[in-house]
Amino acid sequence: MGTEASAAHTACTTAAACPAAAARAPVDHDPVDDPPSCPARHGNPGELRPEWAASTGHGPLTRVTLPSGDRAWLVTGYREVRALATDSRISADATHPNYPELVHVPEESPPDRRSAAQTRTFVQMDPPEQGAHRSLLVPHFGGRRIAALRPMVTATVDALLDRMLTAGPPVDLVAEFAAPLPARVLTELLGIADADRAFFAERLARGPSGIGALAPYLDRVLRDRADALPDRAGHDPGGRPHPQPHTGPGDEPAENILDTLAAHARTGTLTHRQALATAMMLLVAGHETTENTLAVGTPLLLAHPGRFAALRRDPEAMPAAVEEVLRHVSTADVLSRVATAPVEIAGVRIRAGEGVLLWLAAANRDGAAFPLPDTFDILRAGPRHLAFGHGFHLCLGNTLARLELGVAFAALATRVPTLRPAVPLDRVPAKPAPGLRGITELPVTWDAPTTGAPTAAPAGPQ
Ligand code: HEM
Repeated sequence: MGTEASAAHTACTTAAACPAAAARAPVDHDPVDDPPSCPARHGNPGELRPEWAASTGHGPLTRVTLPSGDRAWLVTGYREVRALATDSRISADATHPNYPELVHVPEESPPDRRSAAQTRTFVQMDPPEQGAHRSLLVPHFGGRRIAALRPMVTATVDALLDRMLTAGPPVDLVAEFAAPLPARVLTELLGIADADRAFFAERLARGPSGIGALAPYLDRVLRDRADALPDRAGHDPGGRPHPQPHTGPGDEPAENILDTLAAHARTGTLTHRQALATAMMLLVAGHETTENTLAVGTPLLLAHPGRFAALRRDPEAMPAAVEEVLRHVSTADVLSRVATAPVEIAGVRIRAGEGVLLWLAAANRDGAAFPLPDTFDILRAGPRHLAFGHGFHLCLGNTLARLELGVAFAALATRVPTLRPAVPLDRVPAKPAPGLRGITELPVTWDAPTTGAPTAAPAGPQ
């Protein structure tokens, strides 16, 4: 998912308290007398919150009250979430005054919307501006580029498992595996200098506080790399002709994302602040999402030992298992949007200026789209889940995330076949709302000694 604000997208409690929502005729007023508040506390992220059961039958759109007291539409239907995610009247512009904030900003410190506008990244923009900014990074996330990362991802997974197996059980799988894996992968993707990699990955694995602390470092690196490049006129920063005439970022993408961002900052496609904000956004978007999906997905797989074992024998089954984990975990719970023009959907009239919350996790449990939606079934066939969003903002890192998850689960199944949670999942602490759905730790154990050999390039999702 997207920016820091997006990371703050969170689940809303609605269903339990929610009376019938979708009236037959379009309604343009609150259809409920006592709209439930949002956000809610997260319960067990593996099982989702109990209000889910009560939400079925209340229609695909309901009203919720935000922490600010404002109202917003909460969209829970699979069909409706997909439709609104591709509707140009539904904006992701976080600087819109009615953008539904799921974190309450106290009166004394109103949001600085001008400053926010200057550091907005494409996850909070609308087409065509969003597409123009997104396209700068698209070459780094193409199929071939990501496939070329497989050996690095595999080696990283094996190194983490070597360390874990040497330490012996029990270990915290979040701290030892789920958090460091995406941290190290992002370090590579961004192109952090060799000497700084350990420091950078360690900070990143600490989560939001560690990521915040990386801003000054990235600021300096982007400036240094931009300064080393010629400007549009082919001059170096001292005004002298640069030894290599400038060709722009060019058709061939730079080796890594920081070089690409620095090149765009040098030529003025992006301001330095935008380049920095984009790098920071990628850390938020790419780290905790993957960590949470690994951390919550592992015990889901372990709860089905037969299937988990089958993954060892039949790597072909892995892509479907990864998709079911993504659907079930739906770590990026809710996406904030605002209507810029009236929209009529499912018998409801959304007025211009009203906030809209696309509840991905709910849509991924919509029984109309997924039979027995609460059942974790790695053999499930059916429509594409919405864990990566849909439409304009479909997750740019989805191929990379799928690669990481597939390699990680295959290695766990192969190298630690007796892996099991050391405590029941409902006893592991959920990450506090608001935020991405996840767990803060996962004590695991296994029958030592396990000396499983490294996973030498396991097959996994392509
Ligand atoms: C399991 C892991 C992941 C999940 C569940 C996930 C989920 C999402 C979701 C739901 C969105 C849509 C946000 C919106 O519409 O407002 C999104 C967007 C995005 N994600 Fe991911 N993501 C994951 C991993 C990654 C990774 C590894 C990266 C990159 C390193 C990444 C980069 C992005 C970017 C750049 C966007 C913004 C796309 C746009 O606005 O055009 N994500 N992600």
